[in-house]
Amino acid sequence: MTSTDLVSQANSAFDFAERQLRHLVTNYPGLFPLYTQNGKWNHQSESWTNWCEGFLGGMLWLVAKQTGDAWWRGKAEEYSGLIEHRKLDRSVHDLGFLFLPTWKVWYELTGEKEKQQPVLEAGRTLALRYQEKGRYLQSFVAPESLFIDIMMNVEIIFYAARELGDENLQRIALEHCYTTRRYLVRGDGSTGHEAIFDLQTGEFLRQSTHQGWRGDSSWARGQGWGLSGFVTAYKYTNEIRFLNTAIALADYFIERTPAHGVPPNDWDQPSPKLAYESSAAAIAAGGLLDLGDVVTDPVLAEKYRQQARRTLATLVTTEFLAIQKPEWEGILLHGIYHERKGLGVDESVLWGDYFFLAALDKVLQNASSSPVQSTGVVHTPPKYEK
Ligand code: GLY
Repeated sequence: MTSTDLVSQANSAFDFAERQLRHLVTNYPGLFPLYTQNGKWNHQSESWTNWCEGFLGGMLWLVAKQTGDAWWRGKAEEYSGLIEHRKLDRSVHDLGFLFLPTWKVWYELTGEKEKQQPVLEAGRTLALRYQEKGRYLQSFVAPESLFIDIMMNVEIIFYAARELGDENLQRIALEHCYTTRRYLVRGDGSTGHEAIFDLQTGEFLRQSTHQGWRGDSSWARGQGWGLSGFVTAYKYTNEIRFLNTAIALADYFIERTPAHGVPPNDWDQPSPKLAYESSAAAIAAGGLLDLGDVVTDPVLAEKYRQQARRTLATLVTTEFLAIQKPEWEGILLHGIYHERKGLGVDESVLWGDYFFLAALDKVLQNASSSPVQSTGVVHTPPKYEK
């Protein structure tokens, strides 16, 4: 598929997303789903944790931007407004997921300071999860637990630190990234899902997992969270080690995934029941586009952009886009939330839909603007042991 074809497919995918989202917000007003059950958003199955409430608003902002339509803008504001109280929520580690796709976008569009306040507050709240001894932000499951997923949320602390000039917030965000890099990124560029620490001493004890196959295996979505998270951490800090880590994670993702770009839930799981975890592919596509924008070597940049385009070209086919399933309410097929718990297995997952649209939005943006400026930082890709 050429770049022009992908742009046209991205526009069609946005048209389809518009239909699915209109159905969701008009048929189930105020519902914030996580995953479909037999293709339907409205069901009573458990959430495990409530971390997805920013993705619906995030998609509404993306569609509002694509269409320029006041109805979508109204819905985007409404669904952002509905989650404002979560800025003080200390029960989840996902405040970046809630406030970056919604209130930060709203603030950037309007420049109205009161729209920025919830983002800054959420950044301060997330930083309260910091464990001084182990130097990490604790996951929602326990104080001794660090998740790779938090790399995707730490941006909100970097952002609050920068906007408030708060050195302590900056320290917390930075230390969290160093700790994640040290204990969850392996020598071959793969990542663990969870690190467990001794709370008394701060000593790292072991790697573990909830949604992957085993503690020492490679959960594909976690790899996507890590890849995107380390690119973002690099953008906020210029710390070359974060860029090199992102490169290592990207290379591992590419090496382990078939050419079409969609991995299974865990690369190490023998004979997985399902071939695809489409949300991991959507997350990685966005991360690879971002990585392509920050590496200075044009050959490397093209390698990552090409892989991202190839992945998106797969996701826009009818194998993955639910366009030929009239009863299906989600956008992307073949996502997996939590295989062991049997939640959202081979279904649409809200974050998969969001990161898919966000990556397509980047493609459309790049097609209509001049190339992104490089940071001017020179780097040497590291050699990693196999
Ligand atoms: N809780 C984040 C995830 O399922 O990836």
